Amino acid sequence: MDDLNIVILAAGEGKRMLSDRPKVMHEIMGKPMISYVVDLAKKKSQEHVIVVTGSGREEIERYLSGYKVEFAFQREQKGTAHALLSSTTMLKRGDVLVLYGDVPLLTESTLNDFLDFYRKNRAILFLITTVEKPEGYGRVIRRGAEIIRIVEEVEATEEEKKIKEINTGICIIPEEHLPLLRVIDNRNRKGEYYLTDICNIARNRGITVLAFDHPDAKEVLGINNKKELLVAQTIMRDRILERHMENGVVMLDNNIYIEASVSIGRDTTVFPNTYILGDSSIGDHVVVGPNTMIRNTKIGNHVRIEGFSVIEGAEIAQDVTIGPFSRIRPKTILQDGVKIGNFVEVKNSLLKRNTKANHLSYIGDAEIGSDVNIGAGTITCNYDGKRKHKTVIGDSVFVGSNTELVAPVVIGRGAIIGAGSTITKDVPEDALAVSRSPQRHIEGYGQKKRGKG
Ligand code: UD1
Ligand code: CA
Repeated sequence: MDDLNIVILAAGEGKRMLSDRPKVMHEIMGKPMISYVVDLAKKKSQEHVIVVTGSGREEIERYLSGYKVEFAFQREQKGTAHALLSSTTMLKRGDVLVLYGDVPLLTESTLNDFLDFYRKNRAILFLITTVEKPEGYGRVIRRGAEIIRIVEEVEATEEEKKIKEINTGICIIPEEHLPLLRVIDNRNRKGEYYLTDICNIARNRGITVLAFDHPDAKEVLGINNKKELLVAQTIMRDRILERHMENGVVMLDNNIYIEASVSIGRDTTVFPNTYILGDSSIGDHVVVGPNTMIRNTKIGNHVRIEGFSVIEGAEIAQDVTIGPFSRIRPKTILQDGVKIGNFVEVKNSLLKRNTKANHLSYIGDAEIGSDVNIGAGTITCNYDGKRKHKTVIGDSVFVGSNTELVAPVVIGRGAIIGAGSTITKDVPEDALAVSRSPQRHIEGYGQKKRGKG
């Protein structure tokens, strides 16, 4: 079936979502739902994937621009058969597999089974399943393996509404039966061209329509509103956690949220209520959390991210410790062995090997050498009210507690900054810089003050 065309229907407005975004752009674990369907389709056909867009077309096409798919335009959303017809001029020779942009949880193994069944039983074929609550779905009326009709919810009688066998939407139409699409009309309650009407039209002409039963209804959930979006989100979240556990990651709870694009190495442990988001990768033997958020960050091996830390857009090498209660902001690079402790904020800075900032500091727009000690309460004063300036600190510098480094400023390697200093001028290598006022004593002052009452 190398000439299989795959058409993904994604033009609908998604009214039931009550949203300004096109339905298929709503995210499940950090990725728009359409991306799951396109990823699956691309596994089955590199060349012949067509996405039908209409409502919110620009946003969807912009998002999918890197995916090597073609787009068919459905100007008005007149139903699923009409949507499929909008793609017919773009079809290559071959049969047509229809996937739905709002049915994103389908797995490759189920699709493989469906395609295998089709290879053995060439006919118009629908993927169907059984659900406890069939509301909203098309009900399948069948005789044995054959489908007689699919009745849409709005057209169904009270009796038909009780049927729990439902249409998932996913179907294959053999090339020679594609002309039947043109016979479908819109004489129904919604005035739409229902793709499901192909069933009785085919039967009336003696063409077989078969059902392929799939036992796991969760995989073929259609997402039409925000409640279903949460259900899909939960299913996908569990699947992602399972995948990581199968790869050797320890999860200490189910209440961990890891987006689809994240990779994690073996023997890494994730504590509860941790969020790992976006384009993040985490190495082996790392410990993360609890209550920690990591976004768009690369983390090497043997790193500890203690609880209540927030890390975004950073590159963290090996054997680094961060937190608890640290904030690492974008464009931060922490080399091997760096330690960032509680209530330390780092932004757009490079900290070289084994440098430590263990307590209560702000490090912004800085380049700091290796083996530097940043004392508690150090602040790089990087902003003069108009512009940002850089602080450069050489290797092995010792910055005493409660120091302000007023940028732009350069501290030479091996220098020592006395605690409580405000440094406004460059400090030479190996020098001691102290800028606080000298301490004086007024003898007997306390006694005198008490004496006055
Ligand atoms: C559809 C099926 C229903 C099935 C259910 C499974 C029909 C008539 N009904 O109903 O039998 O049980 O899916 O989830 O096929 N779309 C377009 N253009 C349109 C209309 C829809 O591209 O003019 C796209 C939508 O973007 C969506 C998909 O087709 O991705 C399904 O449309 P939707 O309106 O959600 O159909 P359902 O009512 O869910
Ligand atoms: Ca739907």
